[in-house]
Amino acid sequence: MSTRVKLRSQGWFGLKDRDGFAHRSWMKNQGYPHDLFDGRPVIGICNTWSELTPCNGHFRDIAEWVKRGVWEQGGFPLEFPVMSLGETNLRPTAMLFRNLASMDVEESIRGNPIDGVVLLMGCDKTTPSLLMGAASCDLPAIGVSGGPMLNGRYKDRELGSGTGVWQMSEDVRAGKMPIEEFFAAEAGAARSKGHCMTMGTASTMACMVEALGMALPGNAAIPAVDARRYTLAQLTGRRIVQMVREDLRMSQILKRRNFENAIRALAAVGGSTNAVIHLIALAGRIGVPLALDDFDKIGSHVSNVVDIQPSGKHLMEDFYYAGGLPVVLRQLADKGILDTSALTVNGRTMGENIADAECWNREVIHAYEHPFKAHAGIAVLHGNLCPDGAVIKPSAASPNLMVHRGRAVVFETIEEFHSRIDDEKLDIDENCVMVLKNCGPRGYPGMAEVGNMPLPPKVLKKGITDMVRISDARMSGTAYGTVVLHVAPEAAAGGPLALVQSGDMIALDVPARKIHLEVDDAALAKRRASWKAPAAPARGYYRLYHDHVLQANQGADLDFLVGGSGAPIPRESH
Ligand code: FES
Repeated sequence: MSTRVKLRSQGWFGLKDRDGFAHRSWMKNQGYPHDLFDGRPVIGICNTWSELTPCNGHFRDIAEWVKRGVWEQGGFPLEFPVMSLGETNLRPTAMLFRNLASMDVEESIRGNPIDGVVLLMGCDKTTPSLLMGAASCDLPAIGVSGGPMLNGRYKDRELGSGTGVWQMSEDVRAGKMPIEEFFAAEAGAARSKGHCMTMGTASTMACMVEALGMALPGNAAIPAVDARRYTLAQLTGRRIVQMVREDLRMSQILKRRNFENAIRALAAVGGSTNAVIHLIALAGRIGVPLALDDFDKIGSHVSNVVDIQPSGKHLMEDFYYAGGLPVVLRQLADKGILDTSALTVNGRTMGENIADAECWNREVIHAYEHPFKAHAGIAVLHGNLCPDGAVIKPSAASPNLMVHRGRAVVFETIEEFHSRIDDEKLDIDENCVMVLKNCGPRGYPGMAEVGNMPLPPKVLKKGITDMVRISDARMSGTAYGTVVLHVAPEAAAGGPLALVQSGDMIALDVPARKIHLEVDDAALAKRRASWKAPAAPARGYYRLYHDHVLQANQGADLDFLVGGSGAPIPRESH
């Protein structure tokens, strides 16, 4: 089949001079025959495999299936590594390196003889970093997620990634679970290849990839070890070759309507607040206007139909067997709240892709008329504490705390929080509002997932499991609670959060989308006069990040990375 455009890989492999010799000859040391350089589409397989990113530990296998599909369609697959961001090991937080990894992806694609790219994504930040980097190149691109782990199991109970850990660690702190049991549960909580199997950030972002139209239908939920995950990878390999021949680029798919669909899907699956930051950053790379308030306007009235942890009780394996994301999207379409005309990577519209989706288990995917939680999308709060906004996930919060007024108990850093929270003398009760500062993009640095601060033991012992918590941090998608996150501007950037003191009264009113620090402007101005910004990191990437990171409401991208540069062929290297 012919290709509509002259392929950029021919700018390397099609040369008949010394440079062409170099580009082809050294590739031939891997055993590739001469005819592979004849002008067929060269497909990069962008791999985030790493043994330090256990959620992506099976990606070399997935890449092999992608390659099968590429070969079948007459393409030439070339796998390449990029920085891999593992949520469980990487410190101080994988989010610090999302933008760095996206630069790696962008420059690896642009600098190499690649005509189209398959993005292998799994653990939380590996999805947005690959999408963002690829978007700034704007070649034909398609995602394959690694798939969730099988449902966790320990003794007689199901264990959800993250969510089960939060619950058990509170039990240990409350003296209800021996530490030996806690250790023993570790292997049961992660008993197969794959990423977190709750609707945490990885599963949420896999849903976003599918809802955006950037992956083949069904991508979000197939378990990592299910043979159908490998079939999907093979079909993806076939499809990317066709996309190159059609010159179907990312910017032709990722329109505003695709992002709006993703926002609705985010609400319908009860997805992670982290998706807010990643979608805004991705939109910025591809030139689609998307604001924090869009999440409230477009998504907050959409109901959550998926009963899955952390909001519910089931897990991703159950979600797949119930029909997965296509069912959810079809239900939204049937209610007229999905743009079915949105184009997707297979060349069909979203409406065409989901027309036949059927639900097999109404306990897991509820009918839209009988939702799991009504009006469950992300709520965006405003007020004098967060002039540029803050978010809360009502589906993971306690209804009785959605309107609440309480005395602030302030922690200047997460270390201070850890050193004081177990102290029986700490002046705190369940009506207080826990406030954590200096955990935003610049302050941590990297905006760590520490916003869901554990409750003080003396409150836990009363059987109370939730309190209002406010911070400029993020929260794991697997976490839950009445937690106000992403306060912008952050404390370290001089936002009003920096000025809160223990004893101040704070009023939260989620239905009215308000959060108010009950301190008058004159008192705040006085406090501001004596406020000092924390010291910036001395050097290296930390310094670059500190000096250029945007606030959470703008996606926390680096300011100079917003937008794209396409993929013109760079000048020769020798
Ligand atoms: Fe990798 Fe949750 S830790 S997806």
